[in-house]
Amino acid sequence: MWTRTPFLAFIALAFTKTCCTAKTVYNISVVDNGTSEVDFTSSAAGLDAPKIRPINATAIDWWYFDVVSTDPQSRASVVVVFSTGGAPDMPLRVQATVSFPNGTLTSTNTSVPADSATVTTEGNGSSGDWHGSGITWRYSARSGAYDIFIDSPGLDMKGQIHFQHHAPAHYPCGPAVAGQNMEVGPNIGWANALPDAAATVDLMVGGERLAFKGAGYHDKNWTPQPFGASVELWYWGHGRVGPYSVVWFDFLDLNGTEYGSAYVAKDDTILVASCNLSSIRVRPIGENATYPPGNDTGFPSGYHITLDLGVEGVLEMNAIVAAPLMSVPSYGRFVGNLTGSIKPARGAGGYLMSGTALFEQFRPNAF
Ligand SMILES: *[C@@H]1O[C@H](CO)[C@@H](O)[C@H](O)[C@H]1NC(C)=O
Ligand SMILES: *[C@@H]1O[C@H](CO)[C@@H](O)[C@H](O)[C@H]1NC(C)=O
Ligand SMILES: *[C@@H]1O[C@H](CO)[C@@H](O)[C@H](O)[C@H]1NC(C)=O
Ligand SMILES: *[C@@H]1O[C@H](CO)[C@@H](O)[C@H](O)[C@H]1NC(C)=O
Ligand SMILES: *[C@@H]1O[C@H](CO)[C@@H](O)[C@H](O)[C@H]1NC(C)=O
Ligand SMILES: *[C@@H]1O[C@H](CO)[C@@H](O)[C@H](O)[C@H]1NC(C)=O
Ligand SMILES: *[C@@H]1O[C@H](CO)[C@@H](O)[C@H](O)[C@H]1NC(C)=O
Ligand SMILES: *[C@@H]1O[C@H](CO)[C@@H](O)[C@H](O)[C@H]1NC(C)=O
Ligand SMILES: *[C@@H]1O[C@H](CO)[C@@H](O)[C@H](O)[C@H]1NC(C)=O
Ligand SMILES: *[C@@H]1O[C@H](CO)[C@@H](O)[C@H](O)[C@H]1NC(C)=O
Ligand SMILES: *[C@@H]1O[C@H](CO)[C@@H](O)[C@H](O)[C@H]1NC(C)=O
Repeated sequence: MWTRTPFLAFIALAFTKTCCTAKTVYNISVVDNGTSEVDFTSSAAGLDAPKIRPINATAIDWWYFDVVSTDPQSRASVVVVFSTGGAPDMPLRVQATVSFPNGTLTSTNTSVPADSATVTTEGNGSSGDWHGSGITWRYSARSGAYDIFIDSPGLDMKGQIHFQHHAPAHYPCGPAVAGQNMEVGPNIGWANALPDAAATVDLMVGGERLAFKGAGYHDKNWTPQPFGASVELWYWGHGRVGPYSVVWFDFLDLNGTEYGSAYVAKDDTILVASCNLSSIRVRPIGENATYPPGNDTGFPSGYHITLDLGVEGVLEMNAIVAAPLMSVPSYGRFVGNLTGSIKPARGAGGYLMSGTALFEQFRPNAF
């Protein structure tokens, strides 16, 4: 049964921002058949709430977290995904993967099942318990911080990841306010609670310590249908370059229609949050740079990303693969260097900014 129980939490004394203290508890319900209710228009709160109820056999609703090291010499990263749906044998599960500074990946078993799942929302944030998995996340409305706690013998992973809010939340076409379209492309919902965060990772993985600071990120995606029914291709990524926090999403549907979402923030202020295609373009570069890629096209060397900042100019960036985190024909996830400059160049030719990024290429129908 899908149930929600609103109740009031304590009103904290030290808010620096107006913040909503109404909490809503969602017990996730998974069913075999039946039509699910899907949210594609935002409300004033609940940005990070479950968006499909119940989870039927084709629905997928997940909460994604990652951190990429901000040291360009390091390839350290961590990705934790709390999923509902999308795998009939394990509809409630947590997947956690890491890369060490030298690019070495965790191997073998990266997913653990949960017996049940609960999400508690508060304003734009949420906390989640995937009961029995040993992995939870906690949101503090007072500080805007998220923490992931991991104690999983199954994954041979233990420790904590801390995310301190660094850039405002958004939806595909604009800021985190009521009445926004939440479809980044047909049938694909997207809400980005943490476009950038000052993150601290401290984990023991397979008996080795993985501790680093980096650019953290958290979003959620959802779809009532398998991805392959809606998505031909998407390029997504986030990172920091110079003073900018950036998130890109470039999406091609099965009919060859392109959709995009551009996000850039500076000093905790949004410069652009838009799904106007004139604000964003992502194209593969270097090896295998065919666009759109054919069935036999391998992964490219990197991506060129153009983000229009309006009065600040146009941010032209290259994300170059330093290490693959995951690589099967339908899905590639990478860490890499991010370089960028503003055009037209102001002053004496502008300057090249640098940073790091974590990015992916998804082609659900490629095998
Ligand atoms: C969620 O499930 C737990 C455990 O079954 C139960 O105690 C709790 O009352 C439920 N909460 C809601 C909001 O349904
Ligand atoms: C779901 O519905 C389909 C079509 O009615 C039916 O063939 C199938 O057996 C049902 N599956 C389950 C698990 O109930
Ligand atoms: C699940 O619900 C969605 C949205 O209503 C619907 O499009 C889809 O066909 C449903 N899936 C199943 C297996 O019933
Ligand atoms: C990479 O780092 C990991 C974790 O510290 C270590 O176990 C592994 O031996 C290193 N690999 C190489 C090739 O140095
Ligand atoms: C959600 O975030 C937006 C943008 O940061 C903010 O304007 C809004 O007040 C927040 N909503 C709630 C309910 O906290
Ligand atoms: C991974 O580990 C979990 C927890 O030990 C276990 O339940 C699950 O079946 C394992 N999965 C695989 C594919 O081995
Ligand atoms: C794609 O084309 C099919 C067949 O013409 C049509 O039914 C569908 O609505 C189109 N989808 C989009 C997103 O335009
Ligand atoms: C998208 O941006 C272009 C160029 O700035 C502008 O002409 C157009 O009106 C915008 N479209 C929408 C739907 O806002
Ligand atoms: C890839 O292969 C599938 C199955 O053979 C085919 O339907 C599809 O059109 C191919 N896609 C491209 C981009 O060539
Ligand atoms: C380009 O594609 C080929 C063939 O799939 C592959 O072997 C190669 O590694 C790819 N290049 C890059 C940079 O991934
Ligand atoms: C990333 O940048 C660092 C620092 O400039 C450099 O040492 C490293 O070789 C670069 N890696 C790649 C894959 O370009």
